[in-house]
Amino acid sequence: MITININGQAREIDAAPDTPLLWALRDVLGMTGTKFGCGIAQCGACTVHVDGKATRSCITQIGSIGDKKITTIEAIGATPAGKKIQKAWLDLEVVQCGYCQSGQIMTASALLASNPNPSDADIDAAMTGNICRCGTYVRIRAAIKKAASAA
Ligand code: FES
Ligand code: FES
Repeated sequence: MITININGQAREIDAAPDTPLLWALRDVLGMTGTKFGCGIAQCGACTVHVDGKATRSCITQIGSIGDKKITTIEAIGATPAGKKIQKAWLDLEVVQCGYCQSGQIMTASALLASNPNPSDADIDAAMTGNICRCGTYVRIRAAIKKAASAA
């Protein structure tokens, strides 16, 4: 049994230490907001925060997490940056099919929390690993700028 702090709660996970966090979230805890895309750290669909840093949960073993704090899409709206990002996403209707968007929001929220006024280059550098097959990149950049300018 491995205990991990997820969204402010200690959660017990009955799985081997080398189990990817993504599997633990979705299959053990039933938290399906975090998506499985590639499984090999290439798409960003599985992004969560580990101590506030955008992290690929598909290659993060639960045994490596220790007492670090995990935040998932289910709770990102409770953070100041995540709340602004989610509102901007809705206001600008960023989402198309939606599959990549949990990961996009998690990466964008981590960016905004660490850099409240990101430039286009900052946004491109932070978001480059999050793939969107629907090509919502222009709206994503606009939404991050809108969130950055929100009071
Ligand atoms: S599922 Fe983790 S990066 Fe694609
Ligand atoms: S909204 Fe469809 S993959 Fe990004």
